[in-house]
Amino acid sequence: MIKEIEKLKKQKNAIILAHNYQNPEIQDIADYTGDSLELSKIAAHNDAEIIIFCGVHFMAESAYILSPQKKVILPDIQAGCPMADMAEVEDVIEMKKNYPHAAIVTYINSSASVKAVSDICVTSANAVRIVNKLETDTVIFIPDKNLAHYVQRFTQKKIIPWKGFCPTHDRFTKEELIAIKQKYPDACVIVHPECRPEVVDMADMVLSTGQMVKNIPMITNKQIIIGTEAGIVHKLKKIAPEKEFILASKDFICPNMKKITLEKVLIALSDEQPIVTVQEGTRIKALHALQKMLELS
Ligand code: 13P
Ligand code: SF4
Repeated sequence: MIKEIEKLKKQKNAIILAHNYQNPEIQDIADYTGDSLELSKIAAHNDAEIIIFCGVHFMAESAYILSPQKKVILPDIQAGCPMADMAEVEDVIEMKKNYPHAAIVTYINSSASVKAVSDICVTSANAVRIVNKLETDTVIFIPDKNLAHYVQRFTQKKIIPWKGFCPTHDRFTKEELIAIKQKYPDACVIVHPECRPEVVDMADMVLSTGQMVKNIPMITNKQIIIGTEAGIVHKLKKIAPEKEFILASKDFICPNMKKITLEKVLIALSDEQPIVTVQEGTRIKALHALQKMLELS
C-alpha cells in the first residue's frame, strides 16, 4: 500500500499532510506533519495540485479556503470534530448581538460558516498573541471554553467564552493527573490548552502540539508526561528517542483522527475523492478571518 501511495502521489502531483494526532503509519507516509497552524500554512504555499489531508474535516476545509484551486481530499469524510460542531452560525450571530463591540475570535477548530462570521481565526499556538494584538477590549472566543480560559490568563481583555470543548481533552481530570504525577514524580508535565483549567494549573508547560515538538529538545527531565492526544507521542519519540514519554491517560484518543487509515489514503488518492469544498461566498468571508490570522502570526 505504501509503495502504491508513493507512486500515485508522484503521478498526480499530490502531497499528504498529516496532523500530529494521526496514527504512526499515516505520519510516516506524510510529506508534512504538523499542528493546525503549520499545516494551514503549508496548504496555502505549496504548489501541489492535490492535497490529501489526514486530519479532520475543519482542517481540510481550511486548506480549501486558503487554496481553492487545489483538490483537497479528506480520506474519510466522516472524520469530523465534535468541538467544531458545538458552534452553530445562527447562535454566533445571536451572541454577537449581545456584545456589538466585541471581536469574534474563532479557533481554527470550527466550521467554515462559523469562520465566515468571525473577525479573526486563531490556533492554540497563536491565540494569546493574536488576542493581545486586537484593538477591541472584549472578545467572544469560539468554540473552546478551555482555550478561552487559558487565553484569559494572559490578557487584560475581557474574554467571553463559548460553551464548547474537546471531548478528548476535557474528559481528563485533575485527579487523573495527580495519580500519574505520583507514579512518575520526576517527570515534566506538558498538557494542551484544550485541557480543563484545573489540569492546566498543575502542568509544567502548556503547549500546542507544534510547540511540544519545538520544546522537547530543551527539556532536561528524562520522563515526560504528555497530556494530549496519543498520536503526538510517535512524533516526539522520533525527535527525542532517549526520553520516556508517558501518555497521561489511555483515553487520550480522538476517534475522529483515528478514522484515517493507509487503505483509505490509497483509495482517496486513486479515486481523487472525497473532496472537501466550501461555497464561494462563505469561503471568501472565512478566508478573510484566516488571512488575518496568518498576517498576525
Ligand atoms: P494543535 O495541533 O493546533 O495543537 O491542535 C490540537 C487539536 O485538537 C487539533 O484538532
Ligand atoms: Fe476535535 Fe478534540 Fe479531536 Fe482535535 S482532538 S479533532 S479538537 S475532538
